[in-house]
Amino acid sequence: MRLRARSAGPIKGRARPPGDKSISHRALILGALAEGKTEIGGLLEAADVMATAEAVRAFGAKVERDEQGRWIVEGQGKLIQPTGVIDCGNSGTAARLLLGAASGYTLSARFDGDQSLRKRPMNRVIAPLTQMGARFDSADQRMPLNVHGGKLKGITYRSKVSSAQVKSAVLLAGLNAEGETVLIEPERSRDHTERMLAVFGAEIDQVEIDDALHPRVRASTLKGADIYVPGDPSSAAFPVAAALILAKSEIRIEDVLVNPLRLGLFETLLEMGAKISYEERRDPIGEPIADLVVSASKLQGVTPPVRRAPAMIDEFPILAAIAAFAEGETRIVGAAELRVKESDRITLMVDGLRACGVDAEELPDGLIVRGHGPKSVKGGATIRTHGDHRVAMSFLVLGMASKEPVIVDEAEMIGTSFPGFSAFMAGLGADIEEL
Ligand code: S3P
Repeated sequence: MRLRARSAGPIKGRARPPGDKSISHRALILGALAEGKTEIGGLLEAADVMATAEAVRAFGAKVERDEQGRWIVEGQGKLIQPTGVIDCGNSGTAARLLLGAASGYTLSARFDGDQSLRKRPMNRVIAPLTQMGARFDSADQRMPLNVHGGKLKGITYRSKVSSAQVKSAVLLAGLNAEGETVLIEPERSRDHTERMLAVFGAEIDQVEIDDALHPRVRASTLKGADIYVPGDPSSAAFPVAAALILAKSEIRIEDVLVNPLRLGLFETLLEMGAKISYEERRDPIGEPIADLVVSASKLQGVTPPVRRAPAMIDEFPILAAIAAFAEGETRIVGAAELRVKESDRITLMVDGLRACGVDAEELPDGLIVRGHGPKSVKGGATIRTHGDHRVAMSFLVLGMASKEPVIVDEAEMIGTSFPGFSAFMAGLGADIEEL
């Protein structure tokens, strides 16, 4: 399916983005590992999360959606031997977190995914999980692969990458390991697993090593819990971007997760001169929530600090698109991880921006975009997204403010994280149409 975005003037109004993807995966997985009932409100009903729902069913949990749209998970307090293949679809989070969780039980499971997931590195979880005592068969440490779980021992693991997926895999395995399990990462990645493990009653705390705090878990029995999933800031990023670059726009994006480890894009945008404010801050669920109030802004190019990368790792594509409408150079560095996401996001963003007439340059670990202000972007291109949902949404937002329409291919993949994206944006006044 192809979608075309055209300029249609300002966006206005208020809307609530779909539930946070990271929290949704974790609610289903912890619900399955727990004893008793977990009720989840606001779960993201997108393809990636549905892959996790299917997977935890295969591992023995009962998962149902009630008439009010709440998801009920009846966990068995453990994962059991599945019969079929665990198909993680496009989702790295499903794959890596479930490999960690499965490692702690006496079972063998075959994991697979789509063409994109089959290319993504799994060694980053295979290595620590092997040290803990799990075994893996794989041709090249990628999907498809088999995990053989069993008795594990706790480790202190120094991850080379700041990755919440690696951290979560190790901590979930640590729930069934002898002794304690500690995960050290260069910069802190999103901490939803740690926060939610505490809500489910796990023995989790933080330990100081090398002047920083790192999560530590001990073998624990989890108890079912009530979870509310706030709106996803990574999805909110798209209407926020559109409001900033389209003159006279004014929007309120409601009920958004504002965990500081997810706010790197908004911090960067504030430095660029964006008018964004957080209103009605609240914390009803162990995760902070707020409404984002955004209006059209004059933006300057920026170089976000490298240490901020984990807090905005999914938002670099949309930052690159926004940068085309800023004045001056935006330099993204220290973001080599972008090459092993759902696609190589560095190459794809640079190619697409150039096709739209934007001055963009590829770096080994990032990219440079030289912007010339609002109304400077030509557009008029068809973008090859390689099935990457965030690349597709980024170019549709760019098309909303370009002189000529922008078309993206494989737009059905947007459903992996933001089902109803076109209707959501149309509700605010965008002109996005299926071709
Ligand atoms: C996620 C962690 C990040 C992020 C992904 C979701 C998570 O991946 O890019 O979209 O839910 O833990 P990495 O751990 O590979 O950085």
